[in-house]
Amino acid sequence: MPEVASPIRFHLPMQRCYILRAPAGGAATKKHTDKGGAESPMKDFAGKIAVITGGGTGMGRELARQLIAEGCNVAMCDVSEAAMAETKRLCETEKLPQGLRVTTHVADVAIEDHLKRFRDELAEQHKTDRIHLLFNNAGIGGGGSLFTNTRDQWERTFNICWGGVYLGVRTFLPMLVAADEAHIVNTASVNGFWASIGMNQAHTAYSSAKFAVKGFTEALINDLRLHAPHVKCSVVMPGHIGTSIVSNSRKVQSADGSERLSDDEVALTRKRMVAAGVPDADRMSDEDIQAAFAERARSFLEDAPTTAAEAAKIILDGVKAERWRILVGEDAKRLDERVRAAPEQAYDRDFYESFTQEVGWRLG
Ligand SMILES: NC(=O)c1ccc[n+]([C@@H]2O[C@H](COP(=O)([O-])OP(=O)(O)OC[C@H]3O[C@@H](n4cnc5c(N)ncnc54)[C@H](O)[C@@H]3O)[C@@H](O)[C@H]2O)c1
Repeated sequence: MPEVASPIRFHLPMQRCYILRAPAGGAATKKHTDKGGAESPMKDFAGKIAVITGGGTGMGRELARQLIAEGCNVAMCDVSEAAMAETKRLCETEKLPQGLRVTTHVADVAIEDHLKRFRDELAEQHKTDRIHLLFNNAGIGGGGSLFTNTRDQWERTFNICWGGVYLGVRTFLPMLVAADEAHIVNTASVNGFWASIGMNQAHTAYSSAKFAVKGFTEALINDLRLHAPHVKCSVVMPGHIGTSIVSNSRKVQSADGSERLSDDEVALTRKRMVAAGVPDADRMSDEDIQAAFAERARSFLEDAPTTAAEAAKIILDGVKAERWRILVGEDAKRLDERVRAAPEQAYDRDFYESFTQEVGWRLG
């Protein structure tokens, strides 16, 4: 990305010098010059305040645990109160350092009023008007096809994966700008640069949302550089990470919060398995299909090349190194290289098969 050297930027009085009030927790105040924001990357999370969306399970939970272990206060939101309670318990069993806060807030990131309520609760409970880290992490899969999914399913995925990130930034931007240094971390996916999950499955809602997250975050680099240079941002692009996203997505997509497939989805899954050449798939009972789906969710969690804890460490190291693009996992790095090397072939069967063979994916 070319460096933008606007002479005007260096003469705006607003950007010449930030002298900020002490953040909650009494951390030292910092002075910023007009050299482009904070003088050095955020090397240390101790005493800071982090917001994590989707902190109930997976990478959000592991981010919370690792941030707490580094002495960072955490405020998380999720649609699942029970999952967040477990994350909080895990943070506390690892000995919450004296005075550190970990708070949980039920909020759906696709709904702006929920995020505003989350922000207000956080301000009150953490006694702060600023935050230092925003992890827009919440996301779900599903709703992949314009043909076989309902419009509601499609838009539910899109509005969480894209809308949640956009609204998260909108809602918390003033609190980030009020901090002496801050970092926005938006989770996209390898589906933010490669819009496929295999040859037998449509993946339009998730991929569109993740491409939007990537584009938005890349454009934000300069918006922040021009208008709030002490705030940085990164886009996270994980490969296959071992989490419960398959079953959690089901819960969020289904009206009753069930992990089981609906009758329509059973029929669709059978069709997909037939198309994928699964032996005798057309003769499988509905219960067999449910069991195959449960097995897929188990395997996604347990057979992944990268764990959620490893992913969280890579993300936090990327923030400390102030990298704007954070690829998570060797599979993500290889896919990035392959798509760049042969963009026109990226959606061909040969490309998919040779890539999945190389990295051992069994997703499609
Ligand atoms: N696991 C992977 O292989 C993978 C790969 C690439 C990208 N990602 C992305 O990483 C992020 C984290 O996913 P994960 O794999 O840890 O999944 P996960 O299901 O374990 O965690 C996501 C959390 O977000 C919560 N959530 C879902 N919808 C929500 C909403 N509307 N509002 C608030 N919370 C909501 C869920 O309840 C869950 O606790 C997601 O954005 C996902 O798209 C995951």
